[in-house]
Order: sequence, then C-alpha cells, then structure tokens
Amino acid sequence: MFPRGAWGASARRALTAAPTEAFGPGDPRGRPELRRALAGYLSRTRGVRTGPENVVVCSGFANGLRLLASLRPRDWAVESYGLPFHHGVLDAAGVRPHPVAVDDGGARTGELPSRARTVLLTPAHQFPTGGALLPARRAAAVEWARATGGVIVEDDYDGEFRYDRRPVGAVQGLAPEHVVYAGSVSKSLSPALRLGWLVLPDHLVERVLAAKGLRESWASALDQLALADFIECGAYDRHVRRMRLRYRSRRDGLVRVLAARAPQVRVTGVSAGLHAVVELPPGREARALAAAGAAGLALDGLSSYQHPADRTPPREGLVVGYAAPPDSAFDRALDALAEVARRAAAGR
Ligand SMILES: Cc1ncc(COP(=O)(O)O)c(C=O)c1O
Repeated sequence: MFPRGAWGASARRALTAAPTEAFGPGDPRGRPELRRALAGYLSRTRGVRTGPENVVVCSGFANGLRLLASLRPRDWAVESYGLPFHHGVLDAAGVRPHPVAVDDGGARTGELPSRARTVLLTPAHQFPTGGALLPARRAAAVEWARATGGVIVEDDYDGEFRYDRRPVGAVQGLAPEHVVYAGSVSKSLSPALRLGWLVLPDHLVERVLAAKGLRESWASALDQLALADFIECGAYDRHVRRMRLRYRSRRDGLVRVLAARAPQVRVTGVSAGLHAVVELPPGREARALAAAGAAGLALDGLSSYQHPADRTPPREGLVVGYAAPPDSAFDRALDALAEVARRAAAGR
C-alpha cells in the first residue's frame, strides 16, 4: 500500500525545486523544508509543541535512539516489554537499563527508579503489549522529569493509528523542556525510507547535533525534500486516513474471527497500531508458535519482548502484526490464526 504514485509526484516536484545547495553535503539538523513541515504537522496532529529549530532529522527512530544513548549513557528506565533491537542499541552504548513494569495502562511510571536519568516510553501504544499510558501515569512521568531533571524519550512509532477514540496526544505537549519526542515514517509509510525525527528540548539540540557530526551522513536530503513535499501537499494526511480505515477494518476482522472461533483467548492492544496481542496462559506460547509456523504464519512470542533484566516470569502470547499480508492472503491467515489460538487456549 505504499503510495507509489503520490510519493513519486512529490519526489519529482522536490527534485525540480531543490536549490543547488541541497546537492552538497547535508546539514546534520536535516533539511529546513522538512523540519518546517514536521513542526507544523506534529503540532497539528499530535499536540507536539515545537518550532523547526528544535527538530532534528534522523535515519529512523533507531538512529535517533543511538544518538541519544551516546549522549546519555548512564541509567535508563525502560519498559519491561519492548523491541529487543532497541534494548541492544542501549546495551551497545553502555546504558544501564532498569525495567519498569507495564500493564494495560502502559508503563507504571509511578515506579521509576530513582537512579534513572532517562526513561524510554511508548505512551500512545505500548510496544508490544498495546496499552495507552494512563493520564495519571503521563502526569507521573512528567513530574518525575521535573523533579529529577530527567529526560523522557517518547517513542511515538504508531501514534497516528488509533481507531476507537480520539488520538492520544503526545506527552511532549505537556512538558517540551523534559521530553524528546521521536517519530518515524516506518509505520505510516515504510521502514524502507529510513526517515525519522527527534523533537528536542532546547538544552539537547546542540548536543545531539555534535553527536551527529559536521554533516548529515544518514538521511538522504532528496528523500527529506520528497517527504516535506508529501506532507505539505496533503498527501501524507490522505495516506494516513486511508491506511487508518484499512487497518481498522483488518483489526475488526481479527477481533471478530477470534471472538467467534477462540472465545477463551483475550486479545489486547487492539485500539491502536498495526499489531495485536493474543494472550496465552503460561506454558502455551512455544507450542502455539510452532503450530503457527507450521500453518505458514510468522508470529512472535510475547515473551521474546521481555527485557532481559526483568526477572519476573514472562507474559506469554502471540504478537500478531496484521498490516503486512496482502488482501489475497489475509482471510486465510486469520483462519489459521484462529485455529492456532483455539488449540492453544484448549491446551492442545
Ligand atoms: C517500538 C518501535 N519503535 C520505533 C519503531 C520505528 O523504528 P525505525 O524508525 O527505526 O524503523 C518501530 C518499528 O517500526 C517500533 O516497533
């Protein structure tokens, strides 16, 4: 569903209009056209409070996280479930991680360890368990940052895709001086573009730029210009609206089929994003994953997202990404998933 036509038109327009200096070595802040477009878009759609001067373009969230970890290599509070790849990025920078428990209301930010100087959160849609950070917990995180001088890193990887109620605004809007807001086109457009952004508190802008070095070495200036055009001409909004409808209808199908065929399983994290979690009782996950694999489904086990430093018994379940399969394969995939879930719930 990548918007090939509209993206191609933006890329062509951007290439034609690009000033000569755009073809020289890039500024580590990123293209001004894109930083302007992002500042407007993020304040309009996500409640982010920023101007272009606080936006730094990076090569996807992973690159942004690497930069932040290199600046702040000490103690980080991390959600006890998250992307192992991101845990590895922090490890490689020498960060000491402190896992914080997550439940249906997101991370328990009232329990942030006092040693932490930075906390990495997915407030809009906890990854992968799926809860939205409760208002009281958003406030607690901000209070912690204000009281300790700590920094919240807000990974807003799929904040545009919320289905059942109004979008949850960014935590950054509550405390721009204490939050690094991080976004990416990986869920909204494609991870192939490798484009992301950090919206930084004033005190971190120069430090992040110094960490990047004298020139932009990661994000193509031409792709940045294409994205700026894509946002400014309204194509990004149109694409997100179209995808939201499509994902919601897939989400509805998934919930409906599982409710009918495997009513014993609890399906969570479905109010937003591109994945759901089919929760399983302890001891059932490994077999369910093997059955899913045999049925041609590529699923992850929820336990594999537990932070290695979290010593509590892992939660078990199937993490089901429902965005990628082509339409022609989706109903069959749902059918196979329902059978796997039904058998797993029955202990078979
Ligand atoms: C939790 C989480 N954060 C961020 C991202 C985006 O990462 P990147 O921009 O590096 O592709 C993803 C994946 O798309 C993700 O699952």
